[in-house]
Amino acid sequence: MKIKDLEIKNDVFLAPIAGFSDVGFRSICAQLGAGITYTEMASAKGLYYNHAEKTAELLNVTDNEKIKAVQIFGSEPFFITYAVQNEMLSKFDIVDINMGCPVPKIVKNNEGSALMNNIPLAQEVVKAAKNFTNKPVTVKMRLGFNEIIAVDFAKAMEDAGADAITVHGRTRKEMYMGHSHWDEIAKVVNAVKIPVIANGDVCSKQDYLDIKEQTGAAGVMIARGALGNPNVFAQITGNPERPLKELILEHIKTMRLFHSDKYINSNFKKHIACYYKGKRGGKEVKAKAFESSSLDEMIKIIEDSEI
Ligand SMILES: Cc1cc2nc3c(=O)[nH]c(=O)nc-3n(C[C@H](O)[C@H](O)[C@H](O)COP(=O)(O)O)c2cc1C
Repeated sequence: MKIKDLEIKNDVFLAPIAGFSDVGFRSICAQLGAGITYTEMASAKGLYYNHAEKTAELLNVTDNEKIKAVQIFGSEPFFITYAVQNEMLSKFDIVDINMGCPVPKIVKNNEGSALMNNIPLAQEVVKAAKNFTNKPVTVKMRLGFNEIIAVDFAKAMEDAGADAITVHGRTRKEMYMGHSHWDEIAKVVNAVKIPVIANGDVCSKQDYLDIKEQTGAAGVMIARGALGNPNVFAQITGNPERPLKELILEHIKTMRLFHSDKYINSNFKKHIACYYKGKRGGKEVKAKAFESSSLDEMIKIIEDSEI
């Protein structure tokens, strides 16, 4: 698959997931086969107002990630223009713009999925990015805010210069309820010439085959299906799977290259909840890990676990 001039080795990608798509997780998913790895969303305004440290924390990368996408959010073209030229984005291959986030504190600033309510502004945002970077600029959208307007919106993004679009097959109103409407994603695929990446409820190789068949999309993006199960990328791409314990420990080891032990000990607990969900003895491991007060203690709990 190709986005603008960028050759991607396959068609299955790790989604931006706030609080989870950290450098360690991206690194193992890329090694297991994810063809593009996305950072979680970073604020364009935050970059401008020198919340550099907080934002930089989200934007670490390793060489294991081959095609790296940074996701930014914002609704003011000025800040988008500034963000795409920011030094911190220079290591990324793709700039993705968030037009799907449903969270009230984002929506109330006309950002994320709120941009789907204002097509001219959404187009200005894409143009602001395109005019100031030569990298591919992509958009991640939902089907609409309240109503489904995905085809019109996707065409407008294509007209504004977007090089690819990811469609999460739900409206903002649906949040995460029901099933992603793959049939609506198919309509977008048929309406635009740029590559469409289909997203929503892909958790296995069979889901991947089904969404590709039912939408005709060029690529597939996985979020929740990869949490606790990064091997899903190996299953889909045919790469060898790796033991989960080994992956968890490597995940932490990679984070340690960039973050303090204190930071990891508090931020990794949500990953522990995913990795141990439904596993034998998982509840006990989770309880112990949540009470751990140092990263070394947490690592020992993982090493001694049965996973
Ligand atoms: C905890 C969480 C955080 C998310 N953070 C982001 C984000 O930062 N940017 C974004 O575009 N989408 C974000 N999403 C949406 C996912 O990328 C994806 O579109 C959605 O979960 C549907 O895909 P899935 O069924 O594979 O999970 C997030 C989803 C979850 C559950």
